[in-house]
Amino acid sequence: MDVDVFTLFPHWFDWFRTQRHVANVLALGHTFKTVDYRATTPLKAGKVDDVPFGGGAGMVLRIDVVEAALRARYGEDPVSVRDRRRVIALTPGGRLLDETLAAELADEPALTLLCGRYEGFDERIVEHFCSDAVSIGRYVLAGGELAAMVVCDTVLRKLHGALGDEESAVEESFSAALEGAPEYPHYTRPAEWRGWSVPEVLLSGHHERIRQWRLERARQRGAGGGGPPLP
Ligand code: 6GU
Repeated sequence: MDVDVFTLFPHWFDWFRTQRHVANVLALGHTFKTVDYRATTPLKAGKVDDVPFGGGAGMVLRIDVVEAALRARYGEDPVSVRDRRRVIALTPGGRLLDETLAAELADEPALTLLCGRYEGFDERIVEHFCSDAVSIGRYVLAGGELAAMVVCDTVLRKLHGALGDEESAVEESFSAALEGAPEYPHYTRPAEWRGWSVPEVLLSGHHERIRQWRLERARQRGAGGGGPPLP
């Protein structure tokens, strides 16, 4: 998969690339590149944003700036880029990111993520250049960069070879293997600590009973028990 992230803060993603699952997929030949809107802005003094028509607080990312960045990167009119690859605007009002969307994006050969800043994008950017608008939750971030990292984190970890243990992405929270429920609780050594013991069934070596217990606990969590484990 080839991922391009358009941003005003390309260096923020240097850390993101160092995460093990990201580094793993990059080593396998997938790419994760950042494109700086400022590098190709047609405006003076590196300007990229402007005041909103109709008034109001904050600044809006300009469409001419985004068009220049997309043209420079793909060598074509940005209106046709979305015919070849998903072009995703990160915006608080977009489609909510969940496991279904993450799995859908993980199947794509190429993704383009556009980060907005300040008050966001000129709406014509979303309308004419993007195939998708995605949000990571119903709250407002100062910009799309953290949201882009969240999207890429969950998408890239689904790629073959991202995780040490290939099993770990199959039976996990919200997966079909757990009927879409959050994951069951995990325990490790020591089996007892300050009198707090691990559920007996997990030490039994009885695989079918363990599987049943885990499914049951995942279902309980799905039913609203998101807090500490039940007795
Ligand atoms: Cl994608 N962007 C911004 N600015 N805020 C958000 C978001 C995205 N998702 C949730 N809040």
